[in-house]
Amino acid sequence: MSRSLEIVNFHGIITASAKMKSLFETLKRVSRTDSSVLLRGDSGTGKELFAQAIHNLSRRRAKPYRALNCATLSEQLMSSELFGHVKGAFTGATHQHDGLFHVVNEGSIFLDEIAEIPLNLQAKLLRVFQERAFNRVGSTKVEHVNVRFISATHTSLRNMVADGTFREDLMYRLRVIPLFLPKLSDRNEDIQVLTEKFIEEFNQLGYRTIEQVSKDAWDAMMSYPWPGNIRELRNNIEHAFAIGLGDTLHLEDLTPELQGKQPPEETALENIEKELLVKALRDNHGNKGKAAEQLGMSRPTFWRKCKLHNVY
Ligand SMILES: Nc1ncnc2c1ncn2[C@@H]1O[C@H](COP(=O)(O)OP(=O)(O)O)[C@@H](O)[C@H]1O
Ligand SMILES: [Mg+2]
Repeated sequence: MSRSLEIVNFHGIITASAKMKSLFETLKRVSRTDSSVLLRGDSGTGKELFAQAIHNLSRRRAKPYRALNCATLSEQLMSSELFGHVKGAFTGATHQHDGLFHVVNEGSIFLDEIAEIPLNLQAKLLRVFQERAFNRVGSTKVEHVNVRFISATHTSLRNMVADGTFREDLMYRLRVIPLFLPKLSDRNEDIQVLTEKFIEEFNQLGYRTIEQVSKDAWDAMMSYPWPGNIRELRNNIEHAFAIGLGDTLHLEDLTPELQGKQPPEETALENIEKELLVKALRDNHGNKGKAAEQLGMSRPTFWRKCKLHNVY
């Protein structure tokens, strides 16, 4: 690859794409304000990096920044993470606990996977927007916070509003500035740029030094759709460093997906299934009817699966 590209590194976001560069210009302007930003983009497109950049560019940069992934917590835990709780608020609440809204006062909060937030909590978040007010879980004392909201989603909030699973008023509060992050496959030049960047990064670790990428590896990377975007590209380079040898990154060093093969998880599951079939046949001395019964399968299903796995 010798095509020379104009690469920029904007707060750790590396790119040669014109679309991305124009987003950076928007970001600089938006960051000066306190307007809430909704980052829209598929998994692995860099939403967390963008959120951090917005905070770092803002007047709030010296104040706290905290991120919360709304997809990973139960409603109760999320409430307590955001708003804190008082002692005895629920089973296990043995001490008073500060929430993120206590911690980020005058700073910024990043709510990742905002679409996952339950309706109950949506109402409480709206109140933070409207009155800058909230209560700890289990308390009637009103507390105040001054915070800038940055949030992210990979799905359309508008569709969720239409379904009745997301509050329209909250959507408008959150998406004063919507920003759309392009998929990696829509910024092809970045496949090259980021591959080289990640190779450089892993070369530093010293257990393999890659100096070039073979043509078939480039071809595969350039035509692959990258559903996991930059995260998946980085995984591939890490995979290559762990699997391959020598100074050339070969196609065989990349993940099975890049080679058009099934991912290993599926293969592993298939192996387990095959072992179960073999064991059931052995246990029942080759009697297929009994083997099928042992596995709780109908005879035709058992027969079809045996054929699929070449088990006789
Ligand atoms: N343009 C980029 N330059 C360098 N690293 C990137 C870039 N975009 C994403 N990454 C890296 O890829 C991974 C996924 O990015 P992240 O911001 O967590 O994506 P998202 O939040 O959209 O799922 C992280 O390790 C991040 O540092
Ligand atoms: Mg993320």
